[in-house]
Amino acid sequence: MALPTPKKHLITAALPYANGPIHIGHLAGAYLPADIYARYLRMKGDKVAFICGSDEHGAAITLRAKKEGKTPQAIVDEYHEINKKAFADFGIEFDLYHRTSSEIHHQTAQEFFLELNEKDVFTKETREQFYDADYNQFLADRYITGICPKCGHDGAYGDQCENCGSSLNSTELINPVSTLSGNTPVLKETSHWYLPMERHETWLKEWIEKGTLEGKAHHNPKEWRNQVIGQCKSWIDGGLQSRAMTRDLDWGVKVPLEGADGKVLYVWLDAPIGYISATKEWASNNGEDWKSYWQDENTELIHFIGKDNIVFHCIIFPILLKANGKYNLPVNVPANEFLNLEGKKISTSRNWAVWLHEYLIDFPEKQDVLRYVLCSIAPETKDSEFTWEDFQARNNNELVAIYGNFVNRAIVLVHKYYEGIVPEINVSLVEEYPEIVNQLNKQVLLVQEKLSRKQFRDAQNEAIAIARLGNKFLADTEPWKLIKTNSDQVKLILNLSLQIAANAAIALAPFLPDSSKKLNQMLSLNGLSWERLGQVDLVKGNVQLGKAEHLFQKLEDDSINAQIQKLENSLKSTEAESNIEPFKDNINFDDFLKLDLRVGTIVSAEAVKKSSKLLLFKVDMGSEVRTIVSGIAKHYSPEEMVGKQVQVVANLAPRKIMGIESQGMILMAEGDSGDLSLMQPDKMGTNGSQIS
Ligand code: 2FM
Ligand code: ZN
Repeated sequence: MALPTPKKHLITAALPYANGPIHIGHLAGAYLPADIYARYLRMKGDKVAFICGSDEHGAAITLRAKKEGKTPQAIVDEYHEINKKAFADFGIEFDLYHRTSSEIHHQTAQEFFLELNEKDVFTKETREQFYDADYNQFLADRYITGICPKCGHDGAYGDQCENCGSSLNSTELINPVSTLSGNTPVLKETSHWYLPMERHETWLKEWIEKGTLEGKAHHNPKEWRNQVIGQCKSWIDGGLQSRAMTRDLDWGVKVPLEGADGKVLYVWLDAPIGYISATKEWASNNGEDWKSYWQDENTELIHFIGKDNIVFHCIIFPILLKANGKYNLPVNVPANEFLNLEGKKISTSRNWAVWLHEYLIDFPEKQDVLRYVLCSIAPETKDSEFTWEDFQARNNNELVAIYGNFVNRAIVLVHKYYEGIVPEINVSLVEEYPEIVNQLNKQVLLVQEKLSRKQFRDAQNEAIAIARLGNKFLADTEPWKLIKTNSDQVKLILNLSLQIAANAAIALAPFLPDSSKKLNQMLSLNGLSWERLGQVDLVKGNVQLGKAEHLFQKLEDDSINAQIQKLENSLKSTEAESNIEPFKDNINFDDFLKLDLRVGTIVSAEAVKKSSKLLLFKVDMGSEVRTIVSGIAKHYSPEEMVGKQVQVVANLAPRKIMGIESQGMILMAEGDSGDLSLMQPDKMGTNGSQIS
């Protein structure tokens, strides 16, 4: 008989902007649940394409580049690599981590846009948009902020309010401000391709509320999270509006039409198409047919996202997919709520975050611990909170005391009594310990049920309960006492304990892949197959076990307090930073070369008459002696200045100060309370030598 064809799944996780590193909020929001689900399906034997990558366009990137004085390309190149590595380090096993700056993506996005344009899915309209006259730039998305007309949050972006999740048009913002100049923008006409979303309200409503598409069953809406359906319904009921799908920018996917010079696709049109281009790339590298993952209705498409992305994945992208006509719509969009940190909202700009790459420096090889804690507190139905104290408690009381302890005790006892060789048994464990085996099977069913419903938090709880069952079994049967009186019984107890440990290794593998891998070796299992879950003959008799190692280590207060302190310090330093003058606009290298900075030595110094601030210096500049007046009398006496080597701006046009011509400027650094201190060369240099 032919084997049934494995079911196909296309799993996507929101493409993170390549404008900064990844923190625990990102991981808990989309990537960890997506990875758990993908691992579970793969272990079941289903076919899975798990797709993600960097979102490399849009104002998130260009504004970051401006802030750092780098090109957008340099920014995305840097963060793409950092984030790709961080995901891999945490065991997020994408089939491909792609990039939207890739050629195949630009081509795919342009073709997709053209196809829709030919089908008259867009309307071309000329409308007024906000414009920053100082920067000669139209302002959309993150280039403009203001008060959200829906929730009153001050700091909503031109396309979206991250506070209430509403999707906005920039002209709706109250008190709009350009993020480029800080000025109030003006209105100016420009032409764009719009998506008239109102045309799609009827089918969207039916699809979201009833799970039917053109009268045919599509998915079970009961499996969708309430808050996802709730958000979508409130948008649709509030009336969908036409929305621009192109932008006046030079960074992004060019609009492939005549008369569209200087226009690119809206990042939220181009990014989800990134899921398609990534699938194409993955398929071509792996001998797969990408279309069978997107256009075969037996393939299940699931988008894992955070709640701020709901409108784009449940309304805008489905409109585009359906309008194209050939693509599947998602059967589920399991969006998570937000994760807070120590009582506050995670904030990248205030550095109130736990960054993945920093975590692994402080807790090397403890990726499973963070995965475990983040899944235990996953914000699946409401916002949740990460605290370091809870992290420590879950590690010590659950991973160490239950899972690690159970596995270690069982393996250590087998080493102690049988030199690590699994005791053979001639009776049926099911008959000898029916209650334990029943409980094990009950747990296994619960894990499967919760996983298939995408309730990962509960699923992990049910999986860890397998280890709890084993731990209790050992504590109740006390083989270390029984060994003296009934060694045959001990063989059964330890054999069953190893079987329970093997079941825990399988059931926990989607959640704690690294620990399951170690346990697979310790138990000499030869791989973890989901199919065998619930069986009690997974560890074979007479087999030599591996060395018993602790899967987890206790976390002491010191390491936890250090993390809390680190967070507090970063808050203090960002508060201090907020008092720092903003950086001036960039200059180019030629501008810098115009400055002539030199080393000089002060040969004489005296107070300037009638001035409490000024000192008059003669400075030996190697080829000449300059007269320089400087406002440092409050910080240095004339006597202590003589003989000091200083840095001088040598080509500043001479100017008269209190009637004295000053022929240069001595460089100073400003301290916290306005103190000035000399910028001196670290080693004595030659007078007149250049500073560059
Ligand atoms: O919110 C974000 O980080 C977006 N870059 C997510 C994009 S998801 C998808 F559409 F690509
Ligand atoms: Zn809002």
